[in-house]
Amino acid sequence: MEYDFIFKNGIAVLPGYTGAADIAVRGGKIAAIGDVGGKAAETIDCAGLHILPGVIDTQVHFREPGNEHKEDLRTGTTAAAAGGVTAVFEMPNTNPLTITPEAMADKMKRAQGRSFVDYAFYMGGTADNAARLAEWENLPGVCGIKIFMGASTGALLSASDEDVGAILRHGRRVVAVHAEDEMMMNENKKTILGDSHDVRMHPEWRSAESCLSATARVLKIARAARRRVHILHITTAQETELLAQNRDIASVEALPNHLTLSAPECYERLGTLAQQNPPIRGKEHQDALWRAVREGVVDIIGSDHAPHTQEEKRKEYPATPSGTPGVQTLVPVMLNHVNEGRLTLERFVDLVCYGPQRIHQIANKGRIARGYDADFTVIDMKASKTITNAQQKSKCGWTPLDGMKVTGWPVMTVVRGHMVMRDGDIAAAPAGMPVRFRENL
Ligand code: DOR
Repeated sequence: MEYDFIFKNGIAVLPGYTGAADIAVRGGKIAAIGDVGGKAAETIDCAGLHILPGVIDTQVHFREPGNEHKEDLRTGTTAAAAGGVTAVFEMPNTNPLTITPEAMADKMKRAQGRSFVDYAFYMGGTADNAARLAEWENLPGVCGIKIFMGASTGALLSASDEDVGAILRHGRRVVAVHAEDEMMMNENKKTILGDSHDVRMHPEWRSAESCLSATARVLKIARAARRRVHILHITTAQETELLAQNRDIASVEALPNHLTLSAPECYERLGTLAQQNPPIRGKEHQDALWRAVREGVVDIIGSDHAPHTQEEKRKEYPATPSGTPGVQTLVPVMLNHVNEGRLTLERFVDLVCYGPQRIHQIANKGRIARGYDADFTVIDMKASKTITNAQQKSKCGWTPLDGMKVTGWPVMTVVRGHMVMRDGDIAAAPAGMPVRFRENL
């Protein structure tokens, strides 16, 4: 049997088994696992390295079209590849918003030949397009519907129960929800934030109660509409409790930033560079998020890569935009948590490969299995390096984790058999393709 290449001597993370296993690839697919035999055009020695299924980052903002001064599909996917991410799901709060088939087709066209990793796009759900979503959600490249219940970056907002209900009643695909309560935050802005320019007020204005309120509201609406919802970037202990009681109707995402940085320290050290929505909160909430990771309440970890320029981030709070880059640092920062004993390597794979496949019903990615796409994130669990702004491939050129020493780094990013990153260097032309889903094969 002739293969394109064989990974030899590595430790593979397979479903239910982590250990020595060679992996052979032919025609962009996984062709054999274990004792593979046969000849290959190339043998890649993975001694001392772990081979994971390709990491799928299900929440990134790449800003194209409309805000290409912050990021574009080429630079965003370069950062993804550099960080060991093999596929990305991109958000609709671009300009124009991705809320029509035309805007979706435009993004698909822009990604072709300019993306270094595979990709899919969320369609924004609004009261106005709700009735068309059942039809539009199955367009090629669509990974699901996104709702903002609280205003954040961009003009997408469905704040009322009526609007959210209208969206949930149409269609079947994943509805990903940014759950902050707009009405409660508007009130807080008047009564709590007032004229303050202190970024430490960010978690007070965008309060834990507002997250809990929006999450409780959307769960109730989801139950009435008999529709599953995917609650993005949870930040509070109270949400973890509520979501644990609603496993039948809701899946859950957490972010590396909320698991790694905490208030007030992050605001004192980083100022508005730590400003994101929902906000980074205190240690008691972070402890609850880790508990939710350990107990399986969290299904997915995504980066919520949300680049803004340093100049924009240096304005006076609250005129500063919310969001931080993260697609390039997701893998190393989480591997550092693995090395520090906060989760196992297998649980990490569950959160960034099996979880995305399960929740989004991805057709043929997310595990190392024969016939699946040959997507791999090859990592060196012993490599220690400091994360720096200079390493970042994102157009914004900074990271809130600048200066953090982490152990555990991606060393190869392989997308459908193409070696896209090796030892930190981009090693192939952009050949990303749309991700395929079981619902729209
Ligand atoms: O902090 C955030 N930034 N939260 C969001 O929900 C949007 C994101 C962005 O697009 O900048």
